[in-house]
Amino acid sequence: MARLIINEENKLDTIEPEIYGHFSEHLGRCIYEGIYVGEDSDIPNVNGMRTDVVEALKELKVPVLRWPGGCFADEYHWKDGIGPKEGRKKMINTHWGGVVEDNSFGTHEFMELCRQLGCKTYINGNLGSGTVQEMSEWVEYMTFNGVSPMADMRKENGHEEPWKVDFFGVGNENWGCGGNMTPEHYANEYRRYQTYVRNYDAENPVKKVCCGANVDDYHWTEGVLQTAFDHTLPEFHGFMDYLSLHYYVHPEGWEIKGSATDFDADVWYKTLNKALHMDHLIKGHSVIMDKYDPEKKIGMCVDEWGAWYTCEPGTNPGFLYQQNTVRDALIAGITLNIFNKHCDRVKIAALAQMVNVLQSVLLTEGGQMIKTPTYHVMHMYRYHQGAQLLESALTGVEEIGSEEWKVPQITESVSQDKDGRITITLNNLSIESSEEVAIQFANKGYQVKEAKIVSHEDMHAKNTFDEPAAVDEKKFDGIQVKDDELLVTLPKNSVVMLRVEK
Ligand code: AHR
Repeated sequence: MARLIINEENKLDTIEPEIYGHFSEHLGRCIYEGIYVGEDSDIPNVNGMRTDVVEALKELKVPVLRWPGGCFADEYHWKDGIGPKEGRKKMINTHWGGVVEDNSFGTHEFMELCRQLGCKTYINGNLGSGTVQEMSEWVEYMTFNGVSPMADMRKENGHEEPWKVDFFGVGNENWGCGGNMTPEHYANEYRRYQTYVRNYDAENPVKKVCCGANVDDYHWTEGVLQTAFDHTLPEFHGFMDYLSLHYYVHPEGWEIKGSATDFDADVWYKTLNKALHMDHLIKGHSVIMDKYDPEKKIGMCVDEWGAWYTCEPGTNPGFLYQQNTVRDALIAGITLNIFNKHCDRVKIAALAQMVNVLQSVLLTEGGQMIKTPTYHVMHMYRYHQGAQLLESALTGVEEIGSEEWKVPQITESVSQDKDGRITITLNNLSIESSEEVAIQFANKGYQVKEAKIVSHEDMHAKNTFDEPAAVDEKKFDGIQVKDDELLVTLPKNSVVMLRVEK
């Protein structure tokens, strides 16, 4: 039997709500069809945004949304996406499927989407193929509250008041699709571009995200910080607020990737082993960040994470449409527990991507929408948003897996919200057996107020348009109270959430 020891007397850092963020790119059916159908669509919508999708996302308490890319961001010219729709430029989305991008979803539509979701805005600027002036003017267009060419243009386009841009990415993947730059070259470009990302509203500064590494490219992190980090700047914190990290789980590697639904036990464990790798990556990049920024003023922003499989047979390979099984529920549970545990450094994260692309939380087909297993995990974990991480540790956890791929059977994280309620999230990674966990607190008298589970006997289980609730969030009753301890039996393939209070 495993034991989870919680010391609720030792409150650690705050789990920023933005760790539970999302990413929406002009890619496949994420924005178009998945979120935006236009005002004239038969699909119920408010100002063009699908009502079913917005309502489902509101239940997740989406804290922040990143847009318009991804690789698309470094080819996006924002002026193509403003003004009367009939006059907007059409272009080919060369990166994703070669389809026509009619720019009917642009800055105003994104801001409207975030208004409906009640979330913060994270805009990713174009450093790869755009100019400094273009980036600077976009920020002016969105945030300047006064008389200026860009602010006047915004008003002419129907939005009198400026918007709030909470986070601004100065380029995306500039080591790759964002310009194939060296770290030193990018860092100098970063210094230049970010200079003109002005703060027009001193009370609501735009927080800047510098492009960080892919996976374990520590050379990039070191090179960027060495060149971009400058203690002589009066207020370094306004110069670089976050450094990003991208990590995708490909069961069979980048070239082959692997099926989303057809896998055996060995691939199950291999995939979860790769999901656990996020912990090593955060630790590795943190060591370098600590060297330059020991006070942890720069947050790590894991603004692309999730599983990336071979796309569903018969779909456009450039659309990255994939199904989502119980295995993805475990990937989400494991990764979010890791982020919680590293909340001293990880301040923002974004699951890739929100609808119909990669490890999405929602899938749509015409007027239908289904929630994926990943959705239900994000929903259970929402209680961690803004709570304080509590000291906790597991003992007696077995190492399980296949011959080649080992994983710990259980992972966990624990937090306490401002009202004193404790949220415990646990994953059982085994496809063979359930496991008992004895949960012990520093103080006595805790009672379980809510307990939920996402699980299925069959590791391949998924939701489909014919069977939308095969994998659902269910009430969990595998708990006994014994001598002030909670004895929890975690079924195999399960993600469990407990809310306890005195
Ligand atoms: O999320 C899909 C793509 O993955 C993004 O456009 C890019 O940033 C990353 O390589």
